[in-house]
Parts: sequence; C-alpha cells; structure tokens
Amino acid sequence: MGKEIVSKGTSVCSHGGVHSVDPKLVKVDCSSSVNPLGTPKKAIATIQRNAKSLAQLYPDPESCELKKSLSRYLGIDQEWIIVGSGAIEIIYWFARMFAKSRVVIPAPTFCEYELASHKAGAGVTLVPLHDFELSADEIIEKAKGADAVFLCNPNNPTGMLATKQTRKIIESVDSSTKILLDECFIELVDTPDANSMIGRIREFDNLVILRSLTKSFGLAGLRVGYSVCNPALGNKLSAFKIPWNVNGFAQAAGVAALADKKHMPRARTIVRKERKYLHDSILKLKSFRPSRSDANYFLVRLQSRNSAQFRNELLRKTGVLVRDCSTFSGMGSQHVRIAVKARKENLRLLKALESFDG
Ligand SMILES: Cc1ncc(COP(=O)(O)O)c(C=O)c1O
Repeated sequence: MGKEIVSKGTSVCSHGGVHSVDPKLVKVDCSSSVNPLGTPKKAIATIQRNAKSLAQLYPDPESCELKKSLSRYLGIDQEWIIVGSGAIEIIYWFARMFAKSRVVIPAPTFCEYELASHKAGAGVTLVPLHDFELSADEIIEKAKGADAVFLCNPNNPTGMLATKQTRKIIESVDSSTKILLDECFIELVDTPDANSMIGRIREFDNLVILRSLTKSFGLAGLRVGYSVCNPALGNKLSAFKIPWNVNGFAQAAGVAALADKKHMPRARTIVRKERKYLHDSILKLKSFRPSRSDANYFLVRLQSRNSAQFRNELLRKTGVLVRDCSTFSGMGSQHVRIAVKARKENLRLLKALESFDG
C-alpha cells in the first residue's frame, strides 16, 4: 500500500490555461492539453456563417442533431448518449446524483472529481498511485461499500494509460457502485479504440463513460462534453440537467467538427511525432526529467526547483506557460505538465526550458 493521501476538502482544485495567470503574459500556452490542430476550420466557418441565428434563437434543448452526430461517430444508439456544457457538467451531475456517503478516487488525478464529491457531501477515499501506476486491487478493495469510483484513462496529469487495470476494476466492482470512467483524452492516444471501454458499455449497468469535444476537437471555449451509458442510468445522471444546457454555437460547432473525419487521425499523427520529439529533446537537458506518456501531454520532473516558482519564472522570462502540478492531490511540488503542441510552439517551449537548464 502507498502512503495515505488526505483529501484537502473543497480547497483542492485549480486549473491551467491562460486565465490561471495574467493572460497578457502568455505567448505560448503549454498548460492546457487540447488538440494541437485546434478547432476544425469547418466548425469555425459554420458558426461564423450562422452567427446571427445562433445568437438570437433558443438552441434545441435536447441537442438532437449533436446527439445524432455523436451516435454516428461512436456507433452507439442515441439513447445512450447525454450531452453537457463540457464534460465538467456531467462530472457534477454524477457526483450530485451518486456520491452520497463515500467515493473512491486514485491520486493524483483530475481534481474536479474530488471537489464535486465534496460539494455533494460525500467523503473521499484517495488511493495513491505507485510511481504513477494504478493498482486495480487497491481500488477494488477500497471500493467495497462505496457509492462511486472515479477513473481517468489516460490519466491527467500523467498522460499514462492504465487500460488493463481499468478493465479489471470495472469487471470486479459491485454493480451497486457507480463508476465514472473519464476518457476525455483517449481520442488523442495512438490507438483509442483498443483502449476505450465504449465498445463494451452494454455489459455494465453501473458505468458512465465520459468524453469531451473540448479536448479532442478544440472546442474548449464553446464547452461540449458527453457521456455514454445505459439509458436507465442516463435518466438518473441527467436528472439535474437544465434546459438549453448546451448553447447553439456549441451544438452547431460540435456537429460540424464531428463531420471532419480527418481531424482526429491528423492530430494523432502530430501528437505521436511531437511527443517523442519533445520527450527526447527534454531528456538531453540536465535540469528536467520527462515522464513516459501515452497522451498529448506529459509530466516533467524538475531536478532542483519548486514547480510553482518555476512556472512563474518561466512565464515571466519567456512567455511560455506550463502547468504547475503541485495543486494535484498527491503530487508534491517537483512536477510541471506540458502539452504537446505543433513543432513551432514546441521549439519555443524547448528554447524556454534550455534557458533555465544547468
Ligand atoms: C481529465 C479531464 N476530464 C474532464 C475535463 C473537463 O473537460 P471539459 O472542458 O469538457 O469540461 C478536464 C479538463 O481539464 C480533464 O482534464
């Protein structure tokens, strides 16, 4: 068993992105892990062309066209899909509906599971990773009698897939315990289908799989997330949904983005190549140790610096923003997370890191 991590209650969560600092200082944002290609051109063109009607008309409260597009994209019946204003909305619905007395969360991971569960009034059992690896047996043991388990594959902030362990947990945990499996970054790993649980969703009545167009299709500002689960579970999950929760621009951009079949394969090719390039280049520096990752971001250990101070100094001197990971429960203060971007931006990041090397 690893060292116990005590949950910090409702003071646990902070994020990267240009608004985590003075936005004027940021020239290259390597703290937000979104598709390096950004938003598909067709999605931008659609909202520009239809801006007037999208702005003045009420959107479809049920997001039917978006659900239809997602249904085609995933090969899943529409009834199994729920859309939210970002994946974050669904995380909060899940916690509010299912996190009654105790939930289980590996640590470190995305902080909003912990925060949403606290806000829902549940106690949180944090289960430490070992060298960033998930222990299925420990999660299964702790999940006994728990209301819910949160899993993230690939994990944030590590970028590591734990597909085998995730499957074992889902197959072993009692069906009375609900599981939220966050796959928001899975479309940016090399082989998403081989690692996703979406193909097996019909086997598990207690499983909610979470995805997001904000990461995969670069729609962070518009906010489009969705979940895939059994319709009976979905009815409970969306009990707190407000009408028009996904705005018209988000729905229209989501439909247009999903129609661009080349966007994701292209992005995956860039991520694979640039992740290796960045990782190998950082490895040559003395003061930084990059970690293995399967996703479009990875951890870098600072040999002799505090991560919050380093983030601030790097930004001030170079305009490059990285994610300080000291705010993740169980991470300590030696790591930053960097997003894999296009070559031009990656070169700027490398130059910035070089100027702090030695
Ligand atoms: C693992 C993970 N899940 C979900 C989200 C929220 O995604 P969205 O922007 O779709 O709300 C984030 C955002 O950073 C994340 O890192």
